[in-house]
Amino acid sequence: MGKRIRHAGLASKVMTATKAAELVDHGMTIGMSGFTGAGYPKAVPQALAARMVATHERGEAFRVRVLTGASTAPELDGALARADGIDLRLPYQSDPELRSRINRGEMDYLDIHLSHVAQYAWFGFFGKLDLAVVEATAIMPDGRLLPSSSVGNNKTWLDLADKVIVEVNHWQPLEMEGMHDVYYGTALPPHRKPIPLLKPDDRIGEPYLRLDPDKVIAVVETAAPDRNSAFSPPDDCSRQIAGHLIDFFRHEIAKGRLSPQLLPLQSGVGNIANAVLGGLREGGFSGLTAFTEVIQDGMLDLLENEVLSVASATSFSLSPAGIERFLANIEFFRKRIVLRTQEISNHPELVRRLGCIAMNGMVEADIYGNINSTHVAGTSIINGIGGSGDFARNGFMSCFLTPSTAKNGAVSCIVPMVSHVDHTEHDVAVVVTEQGLADLRGLSPRQRAKVIIERCAHPGYRPLLQDYFNRALHDSRGKHTPHLLNEALSWHQRFLETGDMRP
Ligand code: COA
Repeated sequence: MGKRIRHAGLASKVMTATKAAELVDHGMTIGMSGFTGAGYPKAVPQALAARMVATHERGEAFRVRVLTGASTAPELDGALARADGIDLRLPYQSDPELRSRINRGEMDYLDIHLSHVAQYAWFGFFGKLDLAVVEATAIMPDGRLLPSSSVGNNKTWLDLADKVIVEVNHWQPLEMEGMHDVYYGTALPPHRKPIPLLKPDDRIGEPYLRLDPDKVIAVVETAAPDRNSAFSPPDDCSRQIAGHLIDFFRHEIAKGRLSPQLLPLQSGVGNIANAVLGGLREGGFSGLTAFTEVIQDGMLDLLENEVLSVASATSFSLSPAGIERFLANIEFFRKRIVLRTQEISNHPELVRRLGCIAMNGMVEADIYGNINSTHVAGTSIINGIGGSGDFARNGFMSCFLTPSTAKNGAVSCIVPMVSHVDHTEHDVAVVVTEQGLADLRGLSPRQRAKVIIERCAHPGYRPLLQDYFNRALHDSRGKHTPHLLNEALSWHQRFLETGDMRP
């Protein structure tokens, strides 16, 4: 076990997770590692949750503020939420227990662009960072950390926190050494300089996270896997969505607006994104690049088949089969995968300069192209905006993908007016459902409504949407974005009352 903790001073700070959790106080603001179920601390949060439960049983308060890279796992978000131990959480989550508590108003949640987190922290908008709890693969002899399966905001937490707890996870492969690229050149305005990254695979930083050993109050050893969910094979609907998008890419190549290598791809996580990646392979593409947040199974496949030449991200999100595949060919992948901090993976300057093609899921789109990525019926959050806004606003082409209906057809994902806006009509280029694809570029609001209703809405809802639009065209006072405001959200109200949007 000791071989991974190569700094003598830090080796002397090894203790159990229970002992380390005793060093955490009520009210602390804690920056934890973790991004999309990878690289999160596995032991200290659970020990902390147990301490919180015991403290609450004595009638005393024990809650902390938890900042991460993005979503984590049941051992972190789930455990702390069940212990009623989170006062405030940011910037992204996908845990069912946490989600319920947020939606019941029992805790605060800041849903913010992933690229904003580091600079908000540096400006002090989240208050003082008392503690960082960061998973590492190993501690180097000079005290720097070999990062684990995600980098996220770890650099910021380690730099800013008063104290640090390191979890050294023996499950994380040592062979990842050399895959990370931690950039230390960021500064706050007015001292910022251009970021010297011109291609997705450029290396501009260091393979380790710097750490002041004097800040470290505990080192905890673990040997637990990341939360890895297996992907179900793409269903027909995902395949159809992927097919429309790939036909569109071919069309853009034929028009000379995209080269056969496309532009660096950003792809959200989930089955639709995986289906798009699979479709690129079947579609005969090659030499593509990815500048994205998460490396999922589909990307390993594309790299091995040379559809993709390189992939830059901030985290892995691999199924158990994906991990085996990665480990079996790790030398190959090390040359083709770069993991960066999320302030770089999601940086607006880089996303704009590289001209990323952004492909993200959504909850609903309205007929004018506004997108809701986060809320059910306007008031209950699902996950959060994540990095979708970083890429949608700044990418070359911003695509949003969804099945045309949800809840077994009881809900239309194309609505008159979205119940919550995450991406405005100004940031959305392409909307895709299994019904078809609407290219919104260069279209006015009324033109957009026509193509979205015709191409993306489910046939069961298309006449209702057309009827709404026709009446709005006639009766709306302003004709630029015609709406019947009293009626615009009545579909959502009906869903809340009856569980079905249809009248
Ligand atoms: N109205 C009500 N509920 C809806 C809905 C709609 N229009 N569309 C989807 N849902 C519900 C689904 O029914 C499902 O609920 P359930 O689990 O209770 O059945 C839930 O929302 C998730 O939908 P699902 O079809 O499983 O979608 P997904 O896994 O493809 O995720 C998002 C879709 C929008 C939730 C997801 O893409 C997301 O969180 N996006 C925002 C962050 C992001 O874009 N990240 C990428 C860059 S980091």
